[in-house]
Amino acid sequence: MRRPRKLDFAAGEYVFMKHCAACHTIGGGDRIGPDLAGVTARRDSAWLTRFISAPDAVRASGDAIAKALAATYMPAVMPRLGIAESDVAQILGYIQKQSDAARRPEAGNSSSPAAAKAADLSALLDPYVRIQQALNVGRVDGVREHARDVAAQAKALGPDAEAIRLAATEIDHPLAIAAVRSAFGALGDAILAYAKDRHATFGAGVKVAYCPMVRKYWLQRGETIQNPYYGQQMSDCGRFVADLPSVGQPATSGTTTRSQQGQQGRSQARADKSVR
Ligand code: HEC
Repeated sequence: MRRPRKLDFAAGEYVFMKHCAACHTIGGGDRIGPDLAGVTARRDSAWLTRFISAPDAVRASGDAIAKALAATYMPAVMPRLGIAESDVAQILGYIQKQSDAARRPEAGNSSSPAAAKAADLSALLDPYVRIQQALNVGRVDGVREHARDVAAQAKALGPDAEAIRLAATEIDHPLAIAAVRSAFGALGDAILAYAKDRHATFGAGVKVAYCPMVRKYWLQRGETIQNPYYGQQMSDCGRFVADLPSVGQPATSGTTTRSQQGQQGRSQARADKSVR
């Protein structure tokens, strides 16, 4: 009865690791079942106790929450694990503590809870890379549809990705290829700025490349440079860059200031040429 709290906590952790961790994280995202961070605040404890000890019975009772969860996570369902109701309190104590710990790094950060997680841009980059490939071979057919896809994916990322959505929307017009290329450059900048800000991941095989002629970045797959700004005319112009660049200011003012930069400007110009 008078067990020290520390031991209760350890027991809760033990039961969670043994019976729950295969399907659930606390703050690490969905696995087979939902991420349980904050679930003790979201649901009342009587419901949680019943559900954790006998999820099959709660589902069979026609419970609306259980039905909605089942629909979301199907075909997986949570099995009855033989957890006694008396052990559930310990598990819930552990979940609550871990939820608080998972939230703490975000304190003082103005962004939403989801913002603290690294965003995964792979779904957005699929249609983006299709535009890049089309421009590399000098075509514009299909790019409007792909741009619409990019915009939809950006919308799903939320308000922080609004700049990406707007840049993608700019491509969804009947444009000549030169205009598509310039809008595509702006889209790349918006994606890179977002990625840098949010430590986003790009998905397998996507790399950042730089074109020294137009002084613009782009993202692409594969080991061979496929320049989208010049197409086949100079397909291999450019280089991959290892680190995410800062694309805060447009890097197009070089021609007017070059004469004042003297030696440095000239050697930069030479370096740009030699990359070809
Ligand atoms: C075999 C995988 C599996 C295991 C093991 C498992 N769960 Fe689940 N859990 C699920 C799935 C799937 C759901 C989604 C609801 C459903 O359809 O059953 C779920 C739902 C839940 C919910 C409801 C979440 C919400 O958002 O309301 C809670 C709470 C929960 N599980 C707690 C636990 C605890 C605590 C344990 C360990 C004692 C555990 N689960 C073990 C798969 C599992």
